[in-house]
Amino acid sequence: MPAEIINGKELAQQLKDNMKEEVSKLREEGLIPHLTVVLIGDNPASKSYVKGKKKASAETGIASDIIELPESTSEEKLLTIITELNNNPAVHGILVQLPLPEHIAEQKVIEHIDPNKDVDGFHPVNIGRMITGKDTFLPCTPFGIVTMLKSKNITIAGQHVVIIGRSNIVGKPVGQLLLNENATVTYCHSKTKDLKEFTKMADILIVAVGKPNVINAAYIKPGAAVIDVGINRLENGSLTGDVDFDEAKDVASYITPVPRGVGPMTITMLLQNTIKAAKGLES
Ligand code: GUN
Repeated sequence: MPAEIINGKELAQQLKDNMKEEVSKLREEGLIPHLTVVLIGDNPASKSYVKGKKKASAETGIASDIIELPESTSEEKLLTIITELNNNPAVHGILVQLPLPEHIAEQKVIEHIDPNKDVDGFHPVNIGRMITGKDTFLPCTPFGIVTMLKSKNITIAGQHVVIIGRSNIVGKPVGQLLLNENATVTYCHSKTKDLKEFTKMADILIVAVGKPNVINAAYIKPGAAVIDVGINRLENGSLTGDVDFDEAKDVASYITPVPRGVGPMTITMLLQNTIKAAKGLES
C-alpha cells in the first residue's frame, strides 16, 4: 500500500484558519500581533520567502512590515535598527532573513535580537529554553515537522528518529524537540560512514540535506515515516525534495511531498510564534 501523504499545505491552512480567529479576538482586546522582517540585499530566494511571510501574516490578521536594506548595509547600522525594534513596544516579533551578506556576523545579529521577540527561535537563550523544556519560540521548521507528525498521530515516544543534516536551523533543533518527546535520536551528516545502515533503522526519517533525490527506497525501512525538508529547484524550474518521492512512497507508511510539505508549515509556525510573542512567554 502506498504511503499516506502528509499534506503540509492543507494542515497549514487549518492552522491559519484557527489563528485568524484567535488574532481577531486579540484585536478586539486591542492587541495587534506585529511581525517585522528585515531583508538585506537582493537574494531572490530570500525575497520570495519574505513575500510569503507577509502574505501569510495578512491572511491571519497579523500586522507585518518589511524593512528592506541594501547589500552594502553595515553591521553597525543593522544592529542599530534591531535595537530600535527591540525597544518598540508595537513590534512583537523580529525576523532577520538569513543568509546575511558576508561582511555581517550572523551570530552577532541573532544574539542582538531581544529573546522575547526572537520568533525564529535562534537566540541562544531560546535554544537553552528549548533544551530545558521551558516555554519559548520553537524554531519554525522543526516545530512544523513535529506538528505534522502529531497531526497524523504518529507515535514519537520510544521510536528511533534518524536525522540527516545537522544545521542550527533544522537538524540539531528537530532532534532536540523529538528527544523532548521521548524519541531515540540519531544524527547523521556528511561525515557519517555507512549512512544506509543508520537510515534503515529509522522509524521516522528526517532528511535535510539540500540535494535533490539523494534518498531512495534502499535507505528506508518498510513502514517508516519520511519527512523531506529539502526544497531543490531543478534546471527545468520544478521543485523537488531530497527524497525520491516516487520510490519512497511505496516503502514508507507516511511521507511529506515537495512542494506542499514541510515548506508551508515553516511560515505557519512563524505566525504562531508571533502570536505567542504578542501574548508574552510564560516565565
Ligand atoms: N532563511 C532560510 N530559512 C530561514 C528561517 O527560518 N529564518 C530566517 N531568519 N532566515 C531563513
